Amino acid sequence: MAKKKLQGEVFYPPKEVIENAHIKDWDKLNKQANTDYAKFWSDRAEELHWFKKWDRVIDDRKKPFYKWFTGAKTNISYNCLDVHVQTHRRNKIALVWEGENGDFEAMSYFRLHRETCKFANILKSMGVEKGDRVTIYMGRIPEIMIAMLACARIGAIHSVVYGGFSVEALHERIEDSKSKVLIVADGAYQRGKIVPLKQIADEALQRAGGIEHVIVVKRTGQEINMEFGRDMWYHELRELPIASNQCALEKMDSEDPLFILYTSGTTGKPKAILHTHGGYMVGTYTTLKYVFDIQEQDRYWCAADPGWITGHSYIVYGPLLNGATSFMYEGAPNYPYPNRWWKMIENYGINILYTAPTAIRGLMRFGEAWVKRHDLSSLRLLGSVGEPINPEAWKWYHSVVGNGNCPIMDTWWQTETGMFMITPMPCVPLKPGSGTKPFPGIEMDVVDEKGKPVKPNEEGYLVIKTPWPAMIRTIYGDDERYVTQYWRKYKGMYMTGDSARKDKDGYFWVIGRVDDVIKVSGYRLGTAEIESALVSHSAVAEAAAIGVPHEVKGNAIYAYVILRAGLTGNSTLVEELRQHVAHEVGPIAKPEQIEFVDSLPKTRSGKIMRRVLKAKAMGEDPGNLSTLED
Ligand code: WTA
Repeated sequence: MAKKKLQGEVFYPPKEVIENAHIKDWDKLNKQANTDYAKFWSDRAEELHWFKKWDRVIDDRKKPFYKWFTGAKTNISYNCLDVHVQTHRRNKIALVWEGENGDFEAMSYFRLHRETCKFANILKSMGVEKGDRVTIYMGRIPEIMIAMLACARIGAIHSVVYGGFSVEALHERIEDSKSKVLIVADGAYQRGKIVPLKQIADEALQRAGGIEHVIVVKRTGQEINMEFGRDMWYHELRELPIASNQCALEKMDSEDPLFILYTSGTTGKPKAILHTHGGYMVGTYTTLKYVFDIQEQDRYWCAADPGWITGHSYIVYGPLLNGATSFMYEGAPNYPYPNRWWKMIENYGINILYTAPTAIRGLMRFGEAWVKRHDLSSLRLLGSVGEPINPEAWKWYHSVVGNGNCPIMDTWWQTETGMFMITPMPCVPLKPGSGTKPFPGIEMDVVDEKGKPVKPNEEGYLVIKTPWPAMIRTIYGDDERYVTQYWRKYKGMYMTGDSARKDKDGYFWVIGRVDDVIKVSGYRLGTAEIESALVSHSAVAEAAAIGVPHEVKGNAIYAYVILRAGLTGNSTLVEELRQHVAHEVGPIAKPEQIEFVDSLPKTRSGKIMRRVLKAKAMGEDPGNLSTLED
């Protein structure tokens, strides 16, 4: 397809991959989409089921509160399940699952539909109605998918909290969402150990009010506390007459909420990003189809966690909307040995693998012999998400895992965007480390402080200039924060919070966050959450967290701590503080290093100057200190 010669190191996709792909000519599609993006998206929407068609594709009368497919009636859960059950896909496998301990499950669309109906009926019997929030806190097991689809079916808003989060993070999210029901697993297997999810939830519930019922899914079977009248076993509930395998669904307005997902922002507590049934459905369906080129016979594996946006969009909704067969794995990539992933790719004949740079770098450390033991020839496409992928990891992934034949879809997007925004398609020439160009119909740019486009190869702020169907609708319960956070800085443009460069070929190179978000192993964490966890420890007076480059994790957390008067720091206290953060926020938030200091660099208005701290942590010159208070 490349008409003009591209600059730099370029990988051209193999002919066989393009020949059979949904999209063979990116330029043509891009031109069509950019000529009339409303038409482009409404044509895509036509491929899905609507109980009633829309009056308008896009309603921008109350910018930046954009609406999509207004007037339409649909239900994403219906499109994920019922639609397929009525076709040749009725007995097709929707999900193949392997537990870390070797347990196995394969679920057809027919069965997934029935299980979803049963779960939906259980929720209804507990008084859950359209618009109610339900918190879900589980590991990577099929029931997490079923629980999400069940909520969507009856119009309840799910709020999934990642199973790697801990007490305070869960408490905060339950309370903020005002959930009535909590769905939790007794535990999860991770690296041969059990993560005591129910026990963590019990502790969170002692801090949070509002939860009336707890549904407990048995996964690990260890002894747990069941509170009489509040906690009920899912396997017992599903045997009751109320849990019928048929459940009438709620016909949802296109703009009715589907879920909230908490994510870390610049300051303060995590924000509940709101997505809706209609636009999110069209966006995730289309992007997955075109980018990972989902074909009827494919076995697709997104190795993310359902508790993050990647899992919502590309483990649960996107694949099911496409009638795909997905694979899900519960545990750690290197358990019990570093060939676990490669073994499963061979065993299950996986065709598409979508993961994060940190996982690739982690597995790369063990050497290629672990990969080469396995026949990975089923792979056709690879994917990357969560942070910039360094060219070294890209090349290892491409040549060792993909045997040089599999194009890498480096997808840039966010919890807020709901769907891929900068991404190649299988027919697009690739440059290692670049996500190539915006998805057709979406205009993005790199601008300076004032919002003016910068010159090619210059660094600037990454912005989005056109609305897209799966876009964030608001921060749940805080419209004002939605506007200030994303739309205030540049008029009419969405601010991503990332910095980037655009080269002469129009390829985007994302550099990283420019705000107080730290990406640790691809997980999005806010400095505020880590700092407040540290400060909640009785020995700590003040704390500041920053991210410093880390070979495998991308970034690691480095924390500066001021102790209360009279206390002195030592290695025991460092360890105690690290454990405290793990207990409050989650093991992923544990600082790599803690340094005790007497003061923190602040501006005259009291804002911590993270730039100065970062320079100190890295032994660099802190630069201009004119705004420093002390
Ligand atoms: C970063 C994850 C470079 C970016 C889907 C973004 C990336 C943040 C990429 C969103 C990529 C995600 N290349 N950076 N391919 N993908 N990011 O909300 O900084 O957890 O703003 O969504 O991850 O993180 P979030």
